[in-house]
Amino acid sequence: MNHSRLLLSLSLSCCAALTQAADKIPVYQDETKPMAERVEDALSRMTTQEKINMIHAQGKFSSPGVPRLGIPDLWMSDGPHGVRAEINWNDWGYSNRTNDSITAFPALTALAATWNPQLSFDYGNAIAEEALYREKDVMLGPGVNIYRTPLNGRNFEYMGEDPYLASVLVVPYIKGMQQNGVAASVKHFALNNQELWRGHIDVNISDRALHEIYLPAFKSAIIDGDSWTIMGSYNKIRGQHACHNELMLNKILKGDWGFKGVVMTDWGGAHDTREAALNGLDLEMGSYTNGLTSESEFTTDDYYMARPYLKMIEKGEVPMSTLDDKARRMLRLNFLTAMKRNKPLGSVATPEHYAVAENIGNEAIVLLKNEAPSKNASPLLPLSPDVKSILVVGDNATRDLMKGGGSSELKVKDNINPLAGLRSIYGDKVRYAQGYRAGRPMYSNVENITDAVQDSLRKEAVDMARDAEVVLFVGGLNKNHQQDCEGGDRVDMSLPYGQPELIKALRAVNPNVIVVLLSGNAVDMAWSKDIPAVLQGWYLGSMAGKSIANVISGKVNPSGKLPFSFPVRLEDNGAHHFGTISYPGDSIRQEYLEDILVGYRWHDTKKIPAFYPFGYGLSYTTFEYGKPVASAKTINESESLSITIPVKNTGKVDGKETVQLYIGDDKASVLRPIKELKGFDKVSLAPGEEKTVTFTVKPDDLKFYDEANASWKAEPGKFRAYIGSSSTDIRATVPFELK
Ligand code: BGC
Repeated sequence: MNHSRLLLSLSLSCCAALTQAADKIPVYQDETKPMAERVEDALSRMTTQEKINMIHAQGKFSSPGVPRLGIPDLWMSDGPHGVRAEINWNDWGYSNRTNDSITAFPALTALAATWNPQLSFDYGNAIAEEALYREKDVMLGPGVNIYRTPLNGRNFEYMGEDPYLASVLVVPYIKGMQQNGVAASVKHFALNNQELWRGHIDVNISDRALHEIYLPAFKSAIIDGDSWTIMGSYNKIRGQHACHNELMLNKILKGDWGFKGVVMTDWGGAHDTREAALNGLDLEMGSYTNGLTSESEFTTDDYYMARPYLKMIEKGEVPMSTLDDKARRMLRLNFLTAMKRNKPLGSVATPEHYAVAENIGNEAIVLLKNEAPSKNASPLLPLSPDVKSILVVGDNATRDLMKGGGSSELKVKDNINPLAGLRSIYGDKVRYAQGYRAGRPMYSNVENITDAVQDSLRKEAVDMARDAEVVLFVGGLNKNHQQDCEGGDRVDMSLPYGQPELIKALRAVNPNVIVVLLSGNAVDMAWSKDIPAVLQGWYLGSMAGKSIANVISGKVNPSGKLPFSFPVRLEDNGAHHFGTISYPGDSIRQEYLEDILVGYRWHDTKKIPAFYPFGYGLSYTTFEYGKPVASAKTINESESLSITIPVKNTGKVDGKETVQLYIGDDKASVLRPIKELKGFDKVSLAPGEEKTVTFTVKPDDLKFYDEANASWKAEPGKFRAYIGSSSTDIRATVPFELK
């Protein structure tokens, strides 16, 4: 038990004794009293200094409570895929404890690929149980920045390119987590869509793109998910840092959305005391202590929201009410989490948590391709248990992919890697060759690995591939700098470390090549033309190898669907179409020139086909869509439309299909995407079974953000509902009219 918790429990039991004597405990400690009353009571007992103490960090991941009043410190941890190992008090070193290994859950791109809100709830709940065990009050996640470019080093921590999909999935994650008395911190608010120059790049964007694309997932997290905290982003937005941004925090978040919780900085995201005081920031974390650029013997009293803020208040330069508002929010957060009395104790790395991780992995893996390697042969997948020999090739088959990547890196208790997972099913029929070397985690993409080393690894793998019945290549990206990693972007879209050449060389000696890509980003797929089977396997955490082996062996029928598009070439992605000012900017400013046409909205509207489209994913069975039936042909602006469609499993094995609903406005006074996701339903079907899926098209689903009036608007006229198995595989279209 840490010091402040001990204090709390002593003071609470002490108070309990007093209660019996005086029959009264202080209002702020009385959980039967309304929250607002408790907060006001505590605030009225606090000194100005105590309020100041509460709104900035005291160590890397902790902020002070009010020891005098028995209000405990707050403890935080990254986020978002598991509870991070303990970090030193005031530097970034790990504290080398032996009791902080945990379950690594699949990365959020993988969660998004499940299209399954129940799994998102299970995820949030399980992670909170681990957080409780580790005595954390706030988990720094989930992340919902929109996937704008395949080069963003942190896409793997987010939920893809579509605001509706991310909105639907972020809410249950937060609810599952917060039901345990652990706060979520949805991040990074907002427009942190690249890592390059993330600390200062000034993002300029239209109101429409902001409201239609980049804000909806945050809005759902706040309004529907009731996230108790939110983390600002590092970048600037229209000239002002996001962590103390008048428009984003005061106007939109706290004004329009009525956010009651705590806005915290990203670590080191504060830059100015006056703006921090006035523009909606509540908690300053991670600033350095020596002139705010590096660590020193100075203390966190030097933070922007510490001594300098106190001085401004004392001089009357900013009103006391700004500080009271921040302290109120911090107290509320504290009462909901650290000071909450009846909290479970939590648990870590349990069979239940491993089952959650495995289930998410099972439903996340996307079958991109499954063809017969030659005429008259059958598709390679699922791979029969009777297969005689499998050669597994690739660094990612054995690599610890929880290491590296930045703040989301995890120290896992157990880790079943792909090679181990495959061996648990196919036993000693499995041989392994590394094939290529990727270098140590966290190190540069171009670590000194000589051609001679790569050549000899490749030769060894190709020689072994000649004698194998099947070659299973496990590659992709990893968590090294300029791969899927915080603090830098990828330099291009290619598969690194000579993997395309290696795959081609393997294919030249053996037609039965299956490729499993582990990444949180789209990669160039030109190499895959002659490869019969390809799976997108994400980063699946502790149970990655199990889920991958489940799908490869057919124990699980794949049902994942891509949460973002794979462009053919980088230039085919909207953000890259307009040159460097659009991405990555000129190092000071950038303009989001593709505007609302992000991801499939761009591919569809500009008729630039993706290599693999948004929403795409195959199965070992087939699904037939019947005729859709709509409740009306015409609706008015307050009516909903109901559309039903039968879906049947026409194959031989059980399967799950995500039926997707997109809406398009045939003609509008503004540019609108051809269609936008507005509903989906994942149905489980036995062979021959048919189920009817029902969608409700609500009035809001027809609207765009009208910049002139700063409000949402639907224009009367013809619309179309598209129902399909992906954003391009549309199986039925339902025209209707808005009167
Ligand atoms: C990251 C955040 C993270 C924080 C604390 C920052 O660098 O951007 O996502 O939560 O560090 O580790």
